[in-house]
Amino acid sequence: MESDRSAFIDAMRSVASSVTVVTTNGAAGRYGATVSAFCSVSADPPTILVCLNAESRIAQHVIENQNLNINVLPQNADHIAQRFAGAHDKDIEDRFDNIPLNTDDVPSISGATVLSCEVDQVIPSGSHQIVIGKVMSVAKANNQPLTYYDGAYHQVTPIAVGAV
Ligand SMILES: Cc1cc2nc3c(=O)[nH]c(=O)nc-3n(C[C@H](O)[C@H](O)[C@H](O)COP(=O)(O)O)c2cc1C
Repeated sequence: MESDRSAFIDAMRSVASSVTVVTTNGAAGRYGATVSAFCSVSADPPTILVCLNAESRIAQHVIENQNLNINVLPQNADHIAQRFAGAHDKDIEDRFDNIPLNTDDVPSISGATVLSCEVDQVIPSGSHQIVIGKVMSVAKANNQPLTYYDGAYHQVTPIAVGAV
């Protein structure tokens, strides 16, 4: 017997995640969206996954373009997370408008750690598409990550691990 949907969503509010913007460019055009369902799959070879709502424009663009950049946002970029979650879509036609980018091809957001990927596999699961990406290059930014937890953005605070 599967879990009640609202109990599942409530439980997931207690999971803290990094906040990324998935960007893509190619035959389908340039697009980007905020995604927290991102994780490392394997280092041999370097592989990641993201879970994208199958109905979303980002899923359709990534699958057609066969590429994606994972932009891991720094902690001061909550406004960029909101922009790419569509919060300003009514007022701003292009989500990339005035967002500082390092590249014009597949967009890399300035200040983010960027993993540039080719689509390796797309696996449908429930309402989402699991997109598995082969990591072709990385650009690390030494910034603290923006975090999403309990429906709000947070900063991470280190804990000094005590002696046993
Ligand atoms: C913090 C945060 C995390 C999100 N994580 C995901 C995610 O992991 N997968 C997803 O499909 N949408 C996620 N979303 C929602 C998308 O950003 C939003 O629906 C976006 O507009 C994509 O829809 P579109 O591609 O049709 O524009 C998240 C939104 C926020 C604010």
